[in-house]
Amino acid sequence: MNPLNHVAIIMDGNGRWGLKNKNSRNAGHKAGLNTVEKIIKETIKNKIQFLTLYAFSTENWKRPKKEINYLFTLLENFLVNRIEDLHKQNIKLKILGLKNFSKRLNKLLNLAEKKTYKNKKLQINLALNYGSKYEIINALKNLKKSKGKINERNLTKFLLTKNIPDPDLLIRTGNTKRLSNFLLWQLAYSEIFFEKKLWPDFKEKDYNKIIKKFKNIKRNFGKI
Ligand code: IPE
Ligand code: IPE
Ligand code: MG
Repeated sequence: MNPLNHVAIIMDGNGRWGLKNKNSRNAGHKAGLNTVEKIIKETIKNKIQFLTLYAFSTENWKRPKKEINYLFTLLENFLVNRIEDLHKQNIKLKILGLKNFSKRLNKLLNLAEKKTYKNKKLQINLALNYGSKYEIINALKNLKKSKGKINERNLTKFLLTKNIPDPDLLIRTGNTKRLSNFLLWQLAYSEIFFEKKLWPDFKEKDYNKIIKKFKNIKRNFGKI
């Protein structure tokens, strides 16, 4: 059975779910937040150390302002209402991405990271304004500045995911088979599951089914 330390998820399909069920994309984002709560709980139950959630890509700025504002308001409210409880549950929150949001949101995110910094049960990495190509270019620039030798180990030290093991498992919901600029370096040897269900319809049992399948895969890492 494969050990499972790190699950990464591309939480896709909120907009389609909202349009189909409530005639509004934003309603889908709100519903998606319930799935986030469920999956966090289930991740803890499965004793997984790291959960990385793709919440907003560097390309998502191309969406209508109304949708972007709604997403960030949802996130603000989530932080205000839930951070205390997450902290009590010994959960650490880390943001992967450049924090260039409103002053208020930047501050909330920094506070949440600081408050939960020493927590040990589960680390949630929230990929927010995250883009893998930007991350790699930025890492290369910083590696060059450090005058370090360009090799795999040194480059990894300058990625946003430094000190985080690579994902063992990637799940993308929403019936789309692509990576959308997510963790291109770190997913080199991850097991990938594309799930038909839209994110708000994704349930604990769907998650556990994937975990079970993952545990029985023969992972080669190039060997035989
Ligand atoms: C993913 O759901 C969430 C974000 C990108 C914020 P989408 O909003 O992409 O939902 P679909 O793919 O349009 O249904
Ligand atoms: C990827 O989903 C980003 C997140 C889930 C946050 P998108 O819906 O933005 O991806 P594309 O544009 O369909 O590839
Ligand atoms: Mg999408």
